[in-house]
Amino acid sequence: MALPDTLPMTFPAPGLPARVRIHEVGPRDGLQNEKTLVPVAVKAEFIRRLVEAGLTTVEATSFVHPKWVPQLADAEELMPLLEGTEARLPVLVPNKRGLERALALGARDVAVFASVTESFARANLNRSVDEVLEMFEPVVAEARTAGAEVRGYLSMCFGDPWEGAVPVSQTVSVARHLLDMGCAELSLGDTIGVATPGHVLELLSALSEAGIPAEKLAVHFHDTYGQALANTLAALQYGVTCVDASAGGLGGCPYAKSATGNLATEDLVWMLDGLGIETGVDLRRLAATSTWMARHLGRPSPSRTVRALSQKEN
Ligand code: HMG
Ligand code: MG
Repeated sequence: MALPDTLPMTFPAPGLPARVRIHEVGPRDGLQNEKTLVPVAVKAEFIRRLVEAGLTTVEATSFVHPKWVPQLADAEELMPLLEGTEARLPVLVPNKRGLERALALGARDVAVFASVTESFARANLNRSVDEVLEMFEPVVAEARTAGAEVRGYLSMCFGDPWEGAVPVSQTVSVARHLLDMGCAELSLGDTIGVATPGHVLELLSALSEAGIPAEKLAVHFHDTYGQALANTLAALQYGVTCVDASAGGLGGCPYAKSATGNLATEDLVWMLDGLGIETGVDLRRLAATSTWMARHLGRPSPSRTVRALSQKEN
């Protein structure tokens, strides 16, 4: 028997936004870490279904070196299959070569991805933090000249698998650089899922003191230690209204030890629906998409909500 769609019941709570924009990262952050190489037609169908479920921003792929992320080496084949999609389809670009490839295929939204720590900058981009920022400067400028909007990711904001604790001031400094360079939005990455809600509030408050308001920020929580939803609620209470999530909880990062999937979009939407916060997403339709994708990947979805809803349907 299917769960009645009057659940979850709606009870607004004070101090939360009326609407949240979900930045769906499943096709990029999710699939980049899957052992199975997903055929390009399945990726295009996945993105089409996510958009039909109401997601308005779906990170589609990355224009990185194909040897570094073989799972996304088909970016050139994927983009033409997405033509006419009624959604923003951002793509990751690490350097000028990546930007050229993305713009040649009509990308309108791009993202650069910095690290707050030296160890991850080296592991992920083969450079120091400063060299990474130097590499991004012309990328952001050229993207903006071409009329693209640029998001800046910051990885390891809450802890690093090699270095351990990460001072909040390190994140503030990289955030300032990325904004000054011309990034329109910053996404605060908890790459290995070690943040807790008080830590989130501490970072948001330090950023605000440095003149970086919540409206410029998105949060990007991996769910390794089961804290992603609690951390998201803390960020919403602080005024953040853009949340990254991955359909079915797919994800991880191939260059970060112990990174697992992102906050599952369905778990997020269950909570936001219950709070009466608008997302435009049809939860049941989205969960059906993740169940469909899980069959392609040959393993059950890690999302509790997807598993619970699909059990009820069986
Ligand atoms: P490198 O080895 O330093 O590259 O890697 P290079 O600049 O020395 O160039 C070497 C060769 O690669 C050259 O070719 C370039 O043309 C070529 P050659 O002249 O030898 O024939 N090349 C490229 N080819 C295709 N596309 C490109 C490109 N760039 C150079 N864009 C590089 C530097 C940036 C390429 C490499 O480190 C890389 O691709 N890294 C990507 C890593 C990645 O994608 N990680 C996952 C995404 S980040 C993430 O998941 C975290 C996030 O979710 C937030 C969070 O959770 O924290 C965003
Ligand atoms: Mg990530």
